[in-house]
Amino acid sequence: MRRPLVAGNWKMNGSRNSIETLLEGIKRGMDSVQQAEVAVCPPFVYIPLAQKELAGSGVAWGGQDMSIESSGAFTGETAASMLLDFGCSYAIVGHSERREYHRESDEQVARKYMAARGAGLKPIFCVGETLEEREQGITEAVIARQIDALIDLDGVESLRDGVIAYEPVWAIGTGETATPEQAQDVHAFIRARVAAQNADVAEGLRILYGGSMKPGNAAELIAKPDIDGGLIGGAALKAEDFLAICRAAN
Ligand code: PGA
Repeated sequence: MRRPLVAGNWKMNGSRNSIETLLEGIKRGMDSVQQAEVAVCPPFVYIPLAQKELAGSGVAWGGQDMSIESSGAFTGETAASMLLDFGCSYAIVGHSERREYHRESDEQVARKYMAARGAGLKPIFCVGETLEEREQGITEAVIARQIDALIDLDGVESLRDGVIAYEPVWAIGTGETATPEQAQDVHAFIRARVAAQNADVAEGLRILYGGSMKPGNAAELIAKPDIDGGLIGGAALKAEDFLAICRAAN
């Protein structure tokens, strides 16, 4: 059985005050969450607040990105070891906003994934197609290319006990969610693609859905056989909404 994972991606939102309030709110509500593993990914500078507030709470925390490099002259970058220094368990890699605004290539994302795992972090590997790609009917080809970049570089074993987030770009922050059937189709495709190389790895792989997941649609999505939780943006910024999504996995 795969344990569902619900992770909040706070993106570049919040302030010291609002983030303290959010962390307290999530911590306070954790009693009601029975099944899901829960994680939050604040902006880098607020990670120490997460560590202070969440240590021992059962909620994990992580970075929204990280560097391929381990140290040195890379202005603005944050190394995996630095995230570990502040108790992070997770790092999101290859979010579509990084791929689009920072021109991260499939290969760079795969290398970030390897760097995270090599350092002892659990990377959340994001994949997803744009609206244009979906309309062209090439969704599966795009997802396959993104995943194969990792498998080609590091082998299928790199996905053992791993986490992939399927995030259709057209559903991110738009209020438009993939239907549970649309999402399930892509999740099943991802699992089959991995299973073609190693069935055991595919079975243990957690595939999260992301893209306007909210309290009103989370249960229906997570009920699908290949949807193992969510990566939540907007709805993760309100403790009550985020907790409601976590409870949808109960
Ligand atoms: P959203 O973002 O929930 O606001 O659509 C999800 C994400 O980008 O991870």
